Amino acid sequence: MPTSHLRLLLASAAAVVTACDLPGDVPSNNIPDGFAVQVQNASYPEIHNRMMNLWESGGGDQHLFLSPAGNATSALTLVGGIITLNEPLLIRAVINGEYEPADNTTKMFMTERGDPRAIYDVAYGCNPDTDAVQSELAFRARDVLEGGHICVRPTSGDRHEFRYSPPGNTAWTPDRPCIQVTLALVPAS
Ligand SMILES: *[C@@H]1O[C@H](CO)[C@@H](O)[C@H](O)[C@H]1NC(C)=O
Ligand SMILES: *[C@@H]1O[C@H](CO)[C@@H](O)[C@H](O)[C@H]1NC(C)=O
Ligand SMILES: *[C@@H]1O[C@H](CO)[C@@H](O)[C@H](O)[C@H]1NC(C)=O
Repeated sequence: MPTSHLRLLLASAAAVVTACDLPGDVPSNNIPDGFAVQVQNASYPEIHNRMMNLWESGGGDQHLFLSPAGNATSALTLVGGIITLNEPLLIRAVINGEYEPADNTTKMFMTERGDPRAIYDVAYGCNPDTDAVQSELAFRARDVLEGGHICVRPTSGDRHEFRYSPPGNTAWTPDRPCIQVTLALVPAS
């Protein structure tokens, strides 16, 4: 049994007994074919299985919100671990701005500018509902700073925005939680 599988079984032994058989290979962090991103955290039904959508924000930037807000996309690609959109401008997912002291998180959005990149590995996981093998974006680093995770948080207009939570962050705002999420890849069909 692969170590990652064993760890998954141990970690989830209390909750779910089943766990799919993960492939043994290491997936590439370049994905040239388009995909969409589905957000998962089964403990939070209000965000579970919603999609990462784009919201035009001036200068070619696209801000990221959970569906149904904004425009759906399945044209995302992964270039050296960086979420990239090629049209109409070449923009990349970055982490910068709107830092919030209360929960110690920073916004993730897409831009053509040179802000610190959000860098991911691709990993296999088990879909929490169907137990099917899925590919996931496993957060690796904000530019050169390793660790941390991506979370989604309620914001204006009954929307949820995407944020970065740094390694070891203990700040937690129960009235406005930034919920840690799995980012599952959904290939364009
Ligand atoms: C969605 O896409 C359309 C067409 O490009 C655009 O006019 C509209 O502003 C976009 N909506 C948002 C919220 O980004
Ligand atoms: C907030 O994040 C920084 C890293 O950006 C970390 O050093 C600090 O410990 C965090 N604060 C809390 C309360 O976790
Ligand atoms: C769900 O969110 C909570 C709160 O952020 C987090 O502690 C937990 O690890 C998340 N579960 C998954 C499967 O991501």
